[in-house]
Amino acid sequence: MTVSASAFDALRQDALAGLARATDEAGLEQWRVEWLGRQDGRLTRLLRSVREQPAAERPAFGAAANGLKQALEAALGEREEALRREALQALTTTDALDVTLPGRPQALGRLHPVTQTLRDCVQAFAQMGFRVVEGPEVEWAAYNFDAVRIPEDHPARDMWDTIWVDTLIGGERKMLLRTHTSPNQVRVMERMQPPVRVIVPGKCYRQEATDATHEWMLTQIEGLAVDEGIRMSDLKGVLYEFARQMFGADRKIIFHHSYFPFVEPGVEMAIDCFICRGLGAACSTCHGTGWIEILGAGMVHPEIIDNVGYDSARHTGFAFGLGIERVALLRWGIEDIRNFYQNDVRFLEQF
Ligand code: PHE
Repeated sequence: MTVSASAFDALRQDALAGLARATDEAGLEQWRVEWLGRQDGRLTRLLRSVREQPAAERPAFGAAANGLKQALEAALGEREEALRREALQALTTTDALDVTLPGRPQALGRLHPVTQTLRDCVQAFAQMGFRVVEGPEVEWAAYNFDAVRIPEDHPARDMWDTIWVDTLIGGERKMLLRTHTSPNQVRVMERMQPPVRVIVPGKCYRQEATDATHEWMLTQIEGLAVDEGIRMSDLKGVLYEFARQMFGADRKIIFHHSYFPFVEPGVEMAIDCFICRGLGAACSTCHGTGWIEILGAGMVHPEIIDNVGYDSARHTGFAFGLGIERVALLRWGIEDIRNFYQNDVRFLEQF
C-alpha cells in the first residue's frame, strides 16, 4: 500500500476536524484514543504499516507519518490549552464576585424563651438572698422518693410517672430521671448547716401524656429556706414578691391547699389565666378553672428536718418547686407549652 501526499493531507484534515469537535476532556480523550491510541490508533496503525511499503518509499512514508503524528500531538496540546482557557473564562462570569454588593446579615442566635425565663426567675430569688446550687438530673430513687417521704408503693409515687434508668442494682431499678427538683432539699441540707437559703434550677422528667400545660420534660426551680423561726408567712412573702417582679402588681395570685408528702402544710400557687381571664369553661390552658398553677410549696416536713440531722424543735423551713415553662406561658401569653420544644424557629424568634 502506498499513501500519497494528498492522502496524508486528507488524514490530517479529518483528524483536525475531529479535534475541533471535541469540546471537553472526555471528547479530547476519545479523539486521542481514535488517532494516537497505542493499540489501535489510526496514526499508530499508519506508522506500523511503514514495513509494508516498498523499500524505496519507506523513508518518505515514515517521515510523513511521523510528521503527521507530531502535528496531531501538538494540535491536541493546543486544543487542551484552549479548552482550559475557555472554562476559566466561563468561570469568571458564572462565579463572578461582586464586591460592591451589600453584605448578607448574619442571623444572631438568642437564648431560648425558657432559658430567658429561668434566668429572670433566678435573678428575682437571688435578689431576695437565695444562692444557686445544682443537683443531678439522673437521681437515685432513694433521694427522689424515699428521702422526701414517698416510700415504695406509696400512692403518692403515682403523682410522678417516672422514667427509670434500666440498670439493675442488686436486681432492682434504683436510678431514674428526677421527677422534680425536691430531692435537692435533702441533698442541700445534708451538706449545709442552717441558715439555708438556696434555689436549685434544673430539668425534670415525667412520663406523662402531653397537653397544653404538660410536657414530659420540664424545668423547675426548687427553693429552700431553713432557719430558726421560719414561718408560712415568710414563704408567702417570698412568693408574692417573686410574682410581683415577674408578672407585675396587677396579676392575681391564689394559694390552694394541696398535698405533698414532704411538706406540712402544703399549698399550690396559681396565677389568673391570661388566655380566658377566668371566663372560658372550655379554655384548654387553664382547663376552665381560671387559674394556672405554677408551683407547689409548703413547710418542710419536720421528719425530713430531723432525718438530715437538724433539730426540728429548733429549725423550720419552707420549700417550693416552681415550673418555669408555666411562668414563660403566663409571661408571654403563649397558649401551648409544647411550642417550646418543637424547635420551630418562627416560634422561638418571637422572644
Ligand atoms: N416537687 C413538687 C412537684 O414537682 C413541688 C413542690 C416542691 C411542692 C416543694 C412542695 C414543696 O410537684
